[in-house]
Amino acid sequence: MTRAQHDHGVDPRALLDKYYPSGDPARQILLEHSRQVADKAVAIATRLARTTPIDITFVEEAALLHDIGIRFTNARTLGCHGELPYLAHTWKGRELLEAEGLPRHALVCERHIGVGLAAEDIRRQALPLPERDMLPLTLEERVIAYADLFFSKTPGVLERSVDEVRASLKKFGASKVARFDDWHAQFCDVADRA
Ligand SMILES: [Fe+2]
Repeated sequence: MTRAQHDHGVDPRALLDKYYPSGDPARQILLEHSRQVADKAVAIATRLARTTPIDITFVEEAALLHDIGIRFTNARTLGCHGELPYLAHTWKGRELLEAEGLPRHALVCERHIGVGLAAEDIRRQALPLPERDMLPLTLEERVIAYADLFFSKTPGVLERSVDEVRASLKKFGASKVARFDDWHAQFCDVADRA
């Protein structure tokens, strides 16, 4: 039994196997992306833990599960042949993990898009999402959303640079870039700064 299972009774890999069984067209992309995000998030959480209380085990579990809702969306390049628009993987993942008895992990699914979506963002951009705040609130939620920004789901594509992440957020407004810069200052040691 792994430490994650022992501490929380959560086995992310079993859940990923349940929803993305061997042979599922989205499995490889999801597993690779989730592992990349989890590794970066855990590295950040481990550094933060020197000075700040943070649940590293939860960070790893929730990072592995944050995109579990993608199979229900219509994203053929990712091997997903569902009916929902891609952004719906947020609330769909939440629904799914709540049904699995994981309400805390479920919130990470809902709150990981970009640096977070406010109800106002959803309304103004007419996004296909329920009009409610989907903002990462806890430190753990923010670390995972931050780490996720560095990894696309295109196989073989390397980690984005800090400047590439900034550029990707710029079209959503200066306040999004500013929030990213706050997180970047908080989550990166001087040695890691770009
Ligand atoms: Fe992701």
